[in-house]
Amino acid sequence: MSIFRTKSIEASMAAADEPDHQLKRRLTALDLVVFGVGVVIGAGIFTVTGRAAHQFAGPSVVLSFIIAATVCALAAMCYAEFASTVPVSGSAYTFSYATLGEVVAWIIGWDLLLEMMLGASVVAQGWSAYLEILLGHLGVSIPAGIAPGSHFDAGAFVLVALLTLLVARGIKESLRVNLVFVAVKVFIVLFVIVAGISFIDPANWSPFIPPSAPGAEGSSGIHTPVLQLITGMTPATFGVMGIMSGAALVFFAYIGFDVVATTAEEAKNPQRDLPIGILGSLAICTVLYVGVSLVITGMLPYPEINPQGALADAFEQVGKGGYATLIAAGAVAGLTTVVMTLIIGTTRVSFAMSRDHLLPPGLGVTSERTGTPVRLTMIMGGLIALVASLTPIGKLEEMVNIGTLSAFVLVSLAVPILRRKRPELKRGFRVPFSPGLPWLSAALCTYLILNLSVETWIRFIVWMGVGFLIYFLYGRHHSRLATGLPEAGIEGRPSMLDVD
Ligand code: ALA
Repeated sequence: MSIFRTKSIEASMAAADEPDHQLKRRLTALDLVVFGVGVVIGAGIFTVTGRAAHQFAGPSVVLSFIIAATVCALAAMCYAEFASTVPVSGSAYTFSYATLGEVVAWIIGWDLLLEMMLGASVVAQGWSAYLEILLGHLGVSIPAGIAPGSHFDAGAFVLVALLTLLVARGIKESLRVNLVFVAVKVFIVLFVIVAGISFIDPANWSPFIPPSAPGAEGSSGIHTPVLQLITGMTPATFGVMGIMSGAALVFFAYIGFDVVATTAEEAKNPQRDLPIGILGSLAICTVLYVGVSLVITGMLPYPEINPQGALADAFEQVGKGGYATLIAAGAVAGLTTVVMTLIIGTTRVSFAMSRDHLLPPGLGVTSERTGTPVRLTMIMGGLIALVASLTPIGKLEEMVNIGTLSAFVLVSLAVPILRRKRPELKRGFRVPFSPGLPWLSAALCTYLILNLSVETWIRFIVWMGVGFLIYFLYGRHHSRLATGLPEAGIEGRPSMLDVD
């Protein structure tokens, strides 16, 4: 059978009814928006804003945020259409299994695992670093042997281990905890905006787009963006190119709204609520990000913005050290929810892959008591904890970006394909101007991928190589489609599919 064999949408939906592999439908639209904001606002706004302003864009980092948001909004619409049409666990992985075929689905699933597992590890290390700053402000120091950046990052390990246990207990319980942390985080971000306004000096916004300058150090050799290598451009920062490099970097800050789609099977009314969750959380985050970047670039001349911890540092610089402590505390709370949600996303995608027997099916059995795939949660959480605590992964945001962007490209391309193949399916949300907008989305995501470095591309190719090996050695022969195993749940079960 072809590696491009597709799984019918009815089969995907029916498999979700299989008793051993069933998730509980308990989440409301508000839960999904909170879930989205919880995973999106994280290390990105707290750290990347400063770096993008300082190195690439100056005050026009505000435009970088708007451009990145526009790219995300297009992709978000594609996700929303898919999630409202095929509301089953597994997000982009499941959508592409139904449209582009098994091998593409596997690639996307593998990309999503990269995005979420590595994302969780990167942010867990960021969390640990902020905890150290916060404890430092409170006069407590972490022993050097287990501090962030040492051989064993104990903070990152403990955080991931605790969150994994929480996720294994049940998603609703986890979301309740999430709600408290998200509230704290949004409060802190609003606090930065409101408290910062009175320190703004409009002179700092002039010129809003600093003139283009030769590329910064570290942007040659394997650090060169692939686009510049292909076109032979001279690396440049600031100016219009700087805004685009800034956009490719701050893209990290938006990652996560797509993870909302992985909870599709747990939503009470997925066709209405998933689009609200995906687009709503993206809109809220965009407004907050634009606000924060305007305030930070208004508070200080951009060369003085700290590329590491810009938010806390800006207040230190204007003599408000107490505010900096509060912001560090907010970052610790904020990053907690990002790590937790990424762990949830990882388990849900690998759950869907195991249900299709592309990964061993024994891994994905759900517990009757908690309604969650406990075994898989423990395995994935364990892997994330090890990577986060033992490897210098904190510098790999770009890997997270490339995994996510490549999934976005494939999802965008799949929307018009599904429209053509299955025009009759009920779509709770439709991308306007299809196929134009989905194609534009794919093109813009590709453009951002081309702005990532050669180094990132090499790492990504290695990751994909490992993925292909697993597929051709295991999944290709064992998948339900390959073995002809009945799609459990189809016979004798009412279809959950609404047809116009
Ligand atoms: N968007 C998430 C963050 O900024 C990944 O931490």
